[in-house]
Amino acid sequence: MEHNSYVIVVGNEKGGSGKSTLSIHLAIAYLYAGYKVATIDLDGRQGTLTHYIENRIRYAKDNKLTLPMPEHLVVTPSQYSNKKSSNEDEEQLDYEINELKKEYDIIIIDTPGTYSHLSNAGHKNADILITPVNDSLVDIDVIANINPYTKRILSESQYTTNIREIQKKRKELGKQDLRWIVLRNRISHIDAKNKREVDNILKLLQTEIGFTYISGIGERVVYREMFLNGLTITDLMNMGKDEISISHIAAKNELFSVLHTINIPLKNLSN
Ligand SMILES: Nc1ncnc2c1ncn2[C@@H]1O[C@H](COP(=O)(O)OP(=O)(O)O)[C@@H](O)[C@H]1O
Ligand SMILES: [Mg+2]
Repeated sequence: MEHNSYVIVVGNEKGGSGKSTLSIHLAIAYLYAGYKVATIDLDGRQGTLTHYIENRIRYAKDNKLTLPMPEHLVVTPSQYSNKKSSNEDEEQLDYEINELKKEYDIIIIDTPGTYSHLSNAGHKNADILITPVNDSLVDIDVIANINPYTKRILSESQYTTNIREIQKKRKELGKQDLRWIVLRNRISHIDAKNKREVDNILKLLQTEIGFTYISGIGERVVYREMFLNGLTITDLMNMGKDEISISHIAAKNELFSVLHTINIPLKNLSN
């Protein structure tokens, strides 16, 4: 029997947009909320999410802490790059996801910053796709090519076209719609003009392309400094650490507003 589970894919065909950081933050927040969570790293080459979780396991052991842990899998592409092995990779990933669905409420898939067959197979399994984009006009290019004068869309990006294809196929198969959320990440606290411009363009793209736009997560040291001990903002809040700062509280509020937009029926997301 398959129980009700959600597959969240964190994807953007661009490195450094915050996919792995967001993946771990979502996973741990959902664990604290009482969900059974599994994570899949499709970017085994970089392995950021995997290293984050390894660091977390080590930190918990060294400090004799019981920290919530996701069930974690790394799925790597086969070493051959022909059509047959690509299909086998896709079948393998589908199999792993279906197995996890039997037991886990939420499966979070972190993807690499470039197109790959495996990453595409991950996207095909998404109920919810979250695309973090850095707070820069350069990074919007991954969604659409923008006319620099009118700020209108010149053409959709390959990535957007691909998502549309996946959405269409799901519809044909009678599956639930794939919801696409674009999240502005690393919002600078100083560059007001750039900030306004990125915000305006994403608002425009939201209606023209058809995603939900969240504006978003700030550029905060807290997202970078916790990697080595594998902690996230939700851990800090739950551990009741003395050194909670205004920036931590702002980060927690940003993360919770992402969770509310994702809108998986919430269990106990009150703190
Ligand atoms: N909101 C943020 N504020 C500050 N630094 C961030 C934020 N989000 C991500 N980073 C940093 O940006 C870099 C890239 O993030 P990462 O999650 O590895 O991106 P990706 O997985 O898309 O390549 C890392 O150094 C990470 O710590
Ligand atoms: Mg990554």
